[in-house]
Amino acid sequence: MTVAETENAIKHTDGVIESYGAKRCDLIHILQDVQEEYDYLPRPALERVSEKLNVSLPEVLRVATFYAAFSLEPRGEHLITVCTGTACHVKGAPRLIDALQRDLGLEEGQETTDDMKFTLREVRCVGCCSLAPVLTVDGRIHGNLAPEDISDILEDCF
Ligand code: FES
Repeated sequence: MTVAETENAIKHTDGVIESYGAKRCDLIHILQDVQEEYDYLPRPALERVSEKLNVSLPEVLRVATFYAAFSLEPRGEHLITVCTGTACHVKGAPRLIDALQRDLGLEEGQETTDDMKFTLREVRCVGCCSLAPVLTVDGRIHGNLAPEDISDILEDCF
């Protein structure tokens, strides 16, 4: 973030915190509102939340990393999550991940494509095990998938 972007993030975060009366019990709501603005949780915003709510930064980070809905890094335009819960793993989730990494050109450990179009994440059970293996694209569930289905799913995003 540039200096100006950092200042804006702090100013916006202050507004969010004030809108909740700067109460610690609203930490999750505050983080949700900050994420809604930026589509991720910028570090300066997290530090401001920590300072203003008098909650340690490690505690704020613990909450921010516990919930899969939060992101500490800028995400791509489309968020793809592959379920790696037991049912999906057994039914081929690792092969879906391999196909996605190959088709998106992601290196090992890289989550977001260089053009910021896609972010690929792994999640635990999304609650539709009967459709395993399952992935979601921007929250929409696709089930009973094979690696050959990946290119059609990605094409729908263009
Ligand atoms: S294990 Fe994948 S949806 Fe339950």
